[in-house]
Amino acid sequence: MSNTPTPHNGAKSGEIAKTVLMPGDPLRAKFIAENFLEDYTCFNTVRNMFGYTGTYKGKKVSVMGGGMGIPSIGIYSYELYSFYGVESIIRIGSAGGFADDVKVRDVVIGMAASTNSNFAAQYQLPGTLAPVADFSLLRKAVEVAEEKKISVKVGNILSSDTFYDANTEANDKWKAMGVLAVEMEAAGLYMNAAKLGKKALCILTISDHLYTGEALPAEERQVSFKEMMEIALEIAE
Ligand code: ADE
Repeated sequence: MSNTPTPHNGAKSGEIAKTVLMPGDPLRAKFIAENFLEDYTCFNTVRNMFGYTGTYKGKKVSVMGGGMGIPSIGIYSYELYSFYGVESIIRIGSAGGFADDVKVRDVVIGMAASTNSNFAAQYQLPGTLAPVADFSLLRKAVEVAEEKKISVKVGNILSSDTFYDANTEANDKWKAMGVLAVEMEAAGLYMNAAKLGKKALCILTISDHLYTGEALPAEERQVSFKEMMEIALEIAE
């Protein structure tokens, strides 16, 4: 914990909780702090990637933006795990639906995160790594969802390097392999957690569906994001 602050995070040691909730958008991190946390303080403004620490039902919890894409969440999560003593990062974000039984507003939890990214090349493994969620966080998330009567789908998600993909057939192939939805960060987070012996989970709300064309109106996004945030806050350790 001696390398603090880092080039991307101005927090001093001890200012960040053991569990960090990580939306992509730093303004969503601010919104969560303002609406869900008590006694919060801002620990980071570097690059406007706002981070806050406060309490939720008496538990110390942090929330920080992670940006878009694996390289971005890769940097922020690596630094939190390695230099700030963070044990768990729970990504909360939006995703595009693939599966026929996944609808907009649904909450999807990434048990595993397939990817078209080359992030794992750094490990020089003699095969293909399967980036997976931490089982204890996953189990707790499902239990909380059941208690709160929030319906969740748990399975494989795709962390894509491209939002606008020139290869229009790629989605069909992932969908045919049972992948539920596409986002852009979970695999990088899961790999950092694996490498560093830490915990990670990705909870998503479906904002659009790539096959039905359904999309969540902007004003409805906040309501369905609330369910996902409640699960994440309840499982924070
Ligand atoms: N997040 C929300 N919708 C998405 C999509 N269609 N592709 C990638 N990430 C997303």
